[in-house]
Amino acid sequence: MRIVKAGSRHLDGIMEIENQSFSDPWSRAGFADYLDVPDGEIVALEDRGAVAGFAVYHVSFEESELYNIAVRESCRGQGLGRALLDAVLDRARARGAEKMYLEVRKSNAAARGLYKAAGFAVCGERRGYYERPTEDAVLMDITL
Ligand SMILES: CC(C)(COP(=O)(O)OP(=O)(O)OC[C@H]1O[C@@H](n2cnc3c(N)ncnc32)[C@H](O)[C@@H]1OP(=O)(O)O)[C@@H](O)C(=O)NCCC(=O)NCCS
Repeated sequence: MRIVKAGSRHLDGIMEIENQSFSDPWSRAGFADYLDVPDGEIVALEDRGAVAGFAVYHVSFEESELYNIAVRESCRGQGLGRALLDAVLDRARARGAEKMYLEVRKSNAAARGLYKAAGFAVCGERRGYYERPTEDAVLMDITL
């Protein structure tokens, strides 16, 4: 298992995981464009040659944001999400970030459990923030 900066070779695997994980998935073009941004990164978790998970984050001076994290359905519950999240926290810190923020659907117990276990705390709520289906967002943050 290794976690690396994603490249175009990872896009097929990332799209499979994205489409099985979210009711409002990002497009392939959106991921492809994000591969080259200077102030953010997509990281891919490779396991035996296949993409088992990925995460997307952005850094702006001392603040950073987790945009997306997902693990292949068949690989969940084995610590891979935590490994990806820890790698993202390390990489954002190395780029100078002092805080990381994220939004998560209120009903997403697995993601909220993961974030809480990694040290994130609830810092707000946005009513009706998500679409397809409409749902409140919980805002969380962590000091890096
Ligand atoms: C959220 C997600 C990335 C977690 O990945 P994972 O590899 O299954 O998580 P891990 O095995 O590393 O679990 C780490 C911790 O998260 C929490 N967790 C994981 N799955 C959970 C669940 N179903 N219910 C509650 N807590 C859960 C636990 O605290 C767990 O630690 P523990 O095993 O010591 O109890 C995965 O469920 C996923 O891809 N979901 C779909 C995409 C998604 O919703 N992404 C978040 C968008 S904001």
